[in-house]
Parts: sequence; C-alpha cells; structure tokens
Amino acid sequence: MKIVKTIDEVRRQVKEWRAQGLSVGLVPTMGYLHEGHASLIDASHRDNDRTVVSDFVNPMQFGPTEDLESYPRDIERDAALVEEHGGDIIFNPEPSEMYHEGFSSFVDMNVLTQELCGLSRPVHFRGVCTVVSKLFNIVQPDRAYFGKKDAQQLAVIRHMVDDLNMDIEIIGCPIVREEDGLAKSSRNTYLDAEERKAALVLSQAIDLGINMVRNGETDCTVITDALKKHISAEPRARIDYVKIVDLATMQQITTIDRPALCAIAVYIGKTRLIDNFFTEDV
Ligand code: PAJ
Repeated sequence: MKIVKTIDEVRRQVKEWRAQGLSVGLVPTMGYLHEGHASLIDASHRDNDRTVVSDFVNPMQFGPTEDLESYPRDIERDAALVEEHGGDIIFNPEPSEMYHEGFSSFVDMNVLTQELCGLSRPVHFRGVCTVVSKLFNIVQPDRAYFGKKDAQQLAVIRHMVDDLNMDIEIIGCPIVREEDGLAKSSRNTYLDAEERKAALVLSQAIDLGINMVRNGETDCTVITDALKKHISAEPRARIDYVKIVDLATMQQITTIDRPALCAIAVYIGKTRLIDNFFTEDV
C-alpha cells in the first residue's frame, strides 16, 4: 500500500495495472476514515483487482462559513485502514496539485441540487461534481463507490455520469452506523459527550419514519411532522431540513407513490449531521 501525492504517479500506476488487464475501483473520500469508508473499500476490493482510495479535503465544496480548516485529518491512520481493507494506493494530493493557479473549469448541476443540502450549502455540489470529475479523469476507474449516507450526493454523481457519458459504474453502499444507531461520520468527532447523546435523535427519527412507511403511511407531511416533533424535543438539536423527495429528481413530493428518499439534516450544537432512508429499502 502506497501513499501517492501526485497525479502523474497515480496515472503511471493505473496504466501499469491496465497493461496487465487488471480492473480498478475508486473510493473517493475526504479522509479521517471510519467503518463507513471501510465498507466502500471492502466493496471495491471484492469487485475489482485493484482499489484506489482518494483522501482529499476538497476546499471547493466548503462554503465560506463551513468547517474546511477544522475538518479532521490523519493520513497515517487512514493509510493503515486502507491497507487493512485491501486498498492498493491512497491518493492524497495537496490542494495545489488538484487546483493549479488559474484553475477555472467547473462541473455544475441544476434540478437535483436545488433541494436538501443544495439549498443549505449553495456551492457544495459544484465542488463535489468538479472534484469527482477530476478524480474520475485521473484514475479512470471501472467502478466508483459512494455511500447512501450522502444520498443526494449519490444521486447527483449518478446523474452526472449519465449526463456526461462517463463510462464508470457507480455503486451505492448501505449506511454504516454506530452500535446505538448514529450514522458514522468524520464530523461525529466534533461532538462532546452531551451532544453525542443528543445526536441519537437523528437515527431515532429515521427509525420512526421507516416504521411509519412500513405501516403503510404515504402522506409525506404526516411523516415529516412526526420526525420534526421527535427531533424538536431535543434541546440541543436544531433542524436544517426534514424532507421527502422523489429519488430520481430530488424534488419534494406530497405522497409516497414512487421511489423516494426521506432525508434530514440537523445541527447538534454547531455540528451539522445528516441521515436518511430510501423508501425502496424499507
Ligand atoms: P466523505 O464525507 O469522506 O465520504 C466519502 C464516502 O464515504 C462518501 O461516498 C460517503 O457517502 C461515504 N460514507 C460516509 N459515511 C458513511 C457511512 N456511515 N456509511 C456508508 N458510507 C459512508 O463524501 C465525501 O467525502 C466527498 O463529498 C467526496 C465524494 C469525497 C468528494 O470530495
């Protein structure tokens, strides 16, 4: 397992693998890896001969008031996890390697980015689409792995690959949770002990929603009102959004009469956490 800092070196390595007829999987991450990331690496290791894990805190997808500076980083620990899960190289470029002086090309998307996190984080998906396009061009993988934890991101990437005819299979992987239900996230490290307890309202609300859908509830307002009520009872929680959207368009719907996504974003203190469920998984 190698830590690679330059685009040239990744390209050289992938070319060598290609010459041997080997398949390549890519797992894009921002590092500070946990078992959620590990599940994507495991999936890639299962499906491909070689796996590249990118580990890059992408400045372009953070808004001016967001946590770019404080975002946790630990490349040595990440490298150990990647090795343990069968990754072959970890691509960890400096921002200047990814964005040279004068960088001025972007990949952006309408419609799918208008709701949910796109509303609260206006520059976010332009940054995600741009960096993921660059990673796809650098690595040219057969398959790329994304978590359902970031459900809107997964939908946006699938749509981008389709719109722009990128010949890459996108694999969506289930949410990995802590034992008590909290979805694993690099941002969970921001939570103090009291906030960590309070953060359970997210997964509790998701369970509540899953049960309502299982019991046949199809009225989106009835479901989102119940979730909002549960979350609001926790004084440390502040709701950003609780919404049900069409899985294909990410636009809000009023009745669950097609594949849908119930997604929530909640501030626990200063930390913004997300969680969701897909109605097709219920
Ligand atoms: P990051 O937040 O590091 O997440 C990298 C990948 O891990 C994403 O596909 C995310 O959905 C997945 N992931 C995170 N937590 C997970 C969990 N608990 N269960 C399953 N999968 C989980 O998402 C990004 O980085 C960036 O936006 C990126 C795509 C790398 C572009 O910069």
